[in-house]
Amino acid sequence: MNTNHLVLYHNIDQVLTLKGVAEKRGRHPKKEDLGLIENANVVVNTDTNDVEWVGPSHEMPIEYGDISNAYPGSGELWMPELIECHTHLVHSGDRHHDYALRAMGKTYQEIAKEGGGILTTLKSTRETPLYNLVEQAQADLERFQKYGVGTVEVKSGYGLTLESECRMLEAVRALQESSSVLLVPTFMPAHMTPPEFKGRTDEYVEVICKEWIQEVARLKLAVFFDCFIEDGFFDFKQTQKMLEAALAAGFKLKLHADQFNDLGGVSLGVEMGATSIDHLECISDANINKLAQSETVGVLCPGASLFTGMGYAPARKLIDAGARIALSTDYNPGTCPSRNLPLMTTLGCSQMKMTVPETIAAVTYNAAAALGLEKVLGSLEKGKQFRVCHLQKTSYEVLPYCFGELD
Ligand code: NIG
Ligand code: FE
Repeated sequence: MNTNHLVLYHNIDQVLTLKGVAEKRGRHPKKEDLGLIENANVVVNTDTNDVEWVGPSHEMPIEYGDISNAYPGSGELWMPELIECHTHLVHSGDRHHDYALRAMGKTYQEIAKEGGGILTTLKSTRETPLYNLVEQAQADLERFQKYGVGTVEVKSGYGLTLESECRMLEAVRALQESSSVLLVPTFMPAHMTPPEFKGRTDEYVEVICKEWIQEVARLKLAVFFDCFIEDGFFDFKQTQKMLEAALAAGFKLKLHADQFNDLGGVSLGVEMGATSIDHLECISDANINKLAQSETVGVLCPGASLFTGMGYAPARKLIDAGARIALSTDYNPGTCPSRNLPLMTTLGCSQMKMTVPETIAAVTYNAAAALGLEKVLGSLEKGKQFRVCHLQKTSYEVLPYCFGELD
């Protein structure tokens, strides 16, 4: 057998394959689903960067014994690279003043109404040239990588003119050319109504549906379309209209829903086949069941809850009902200026009563599913991409235990 295209990593202390999690499509993840292999070998096809074989060393088929590119993995714990499935990575400026106002009792929506919030980031992002947007996002991406992250979803939504939204998405494209992190771009013009359309949200929605969605689709700048359905932002009807237009133009759907108020976003997203519905801090019991019975992934953002002092999403109820649950930082300057995805697993355990295996599944397989990538990412199995996080640790349980200090 010609083995020139193969690399063998042998005698790795522990490999977490997540095979059982993948078999259960991310529902009810248990310890035994993590597929922990002690003293494992991994064979990689370097032509495709796919996993060719993974298993206990002593079970490796004899033909792989001829592989000359072989490296030992002793002292290491391998698991699928972490996947960050919800960020607002490309932006300019921070929002420490919003934080100070919130510390004095103002709410997120009050700050937005008074001209702060997303509008502050919008102003500075619009003024920032493409080169600088890329440079800042590059530094943030490197920070994500330090936390074991290998795939990052990135939303537009701080431009809110067609030109500046496209500039944000072009920044993602430029970043992808120089980064080994896999980036998944999302078009999110419905983050708020921009100043040019103040008091005319219906007209803004019309422009998004009739012109912007088609143009961004034509330029192939994004895979997903996302919308913030919330009091003071976009209502049910407006959201429905945009999701229908986006679907017709070939986008997959995501939704920011039930963050502060339930406006019917979960039912809408599930009925329209959204790949994920994100936030869900105030999801109702009826909608928990609706989501659990669907393929739509619920993406929870405990960092935003911690930072805004709002409640946490009911992860325990969602998982027990059978929902596919992912965890994300929601990295953005307003509600979670952190790139620390491992810390989200800590919050998952301590604040949302998730088990460790549930949090591991939530930042690997289920996060891949939230990006529609679970057939190629999120577990280490034959035919899936060889994207691995190497931990110099003795147990996967340190991921939430390390309290965000992974190194
Ligand atoms: O996911 N909720 C809306 N969007 C972001 C916050 C964006 C911002 O405040 O800049 C979120 O929390
Ligand atoms: Fe967000």
